[in-house]
Amino acid sequence: MSDLEDLLGPGAFGYFAGGAGDEITLRDNTAAWSRYRLAPRVLVDVTERDLGTTLLGRHRTHPIAVAPMAYQRHAHTGGERALAEAARAAEALFVLSSQTTTSLPEVADALGESDRWFQLYVFKDRQVSLDLVVQARESGYEALVLTVDFPVGGWRERDRRTGFHVTYPLALNPSGTALTTRQLHDMHDPSLTWDDIGEFAAAAGMPVILKGILRPDDAERAVDAGAAGIIVSNHGGRQLDTTAAAVDALVPIVDAVGGGLDLLVDGGITRGWDVAKALALGADAVLVGRHVLWGLARGGAEGAEAVLRQLVAEFDTTLALLGCPRAADLDASYVLR
Ligand code: LAC
Repeated sequence: MSDLEDLLGPGAFGYFAGGAGDEITLRDNTAAWSRYRLAPRVLVDVTERDLGTTLLGRHRTHPIAVAPMAYQRHAHTGGERALAEAARAAEALFVLSSQTTTSLPEVADALGESDRWFQLYVFKDRQVSLDLVVQARESGYEALVLTVDFPVGGWRERDRRTGFHVTYPLALNPSGTALTTRQLHDMHDPSLTWDDIGEFAAAAGMPVILKGILRPDDAERAVDAGAAGIIVSNHGGRQLDTTAAAVDALVPIVDAVGGGLDLLVDGGITRGWDVAKALALGADAVLVGRHVLWGLARGGAEGAEAVLRQLVAEFDTTLALLGCPRAADLDASYVLR
């Protein structure tokens, strides 16, 4: 048993750590970042460095965001509130999951003025989703991250083995009666199509970012549908096993739509040099999930903040050693392909 499994118990640990099927994509997400090699430029003055990026037309201190993750109180009693505090302290954009175990206003309170986006699932009971959108708008969330890779839950064998139950109240299950993740995932609407995106965009009254795009043709469709951005993502390897690793999917998507909308990527990012590779290959920002969640599990808000700060510091060191003092100047010449 790992120390995290001891901390969380096999059910919650398996839920957070696990992926779909044989977990090939889960492993490949991390391995793939290592397959890309960096090409530093020497004898560049890197005394002053600028880690900043622009998302939705606004300057951000650095390109590292906290990915939306469900049921965070099963990782640590502080839950979403503690992770929001960590994001605020580390000046990281925080993306709150619609499967939150903490209310939207409470998370907004922990965030203060800090940047926040809201991730939405469209549930069979669409009113639940529409109500969440209204709450997000009222709590100052800046963008709606609509997850589009979850018509049904992935084939998750760890959850089947452990019988993990979510026991905290959720928008989908306000009473907090114990439900398996399969029961919860069965509440997602499998009939969602491109025709529905407009309804949620209109209800949101805020930019919409589509999360879970893996194909260049879908990326082009997202541009046509008016999305402000896309998140290239295989859902942390949790949905369809043997889909492409995040970085491998990113490259053809950048070729198809690079510059046409904001591009983010998630999956397997654990080091500042991974962040640099993502930006060099054409992403504007990255999202980090489990890596930060383990910090939360081990040390609450402080633990998660330490992980985020280390990632930012590693990214800063990478810019210096790459001879590219401005993150905005990273380009494909810094990566051997
Ligand atoms: C999951 C969903 C809820 O991956 O995002 O379990």
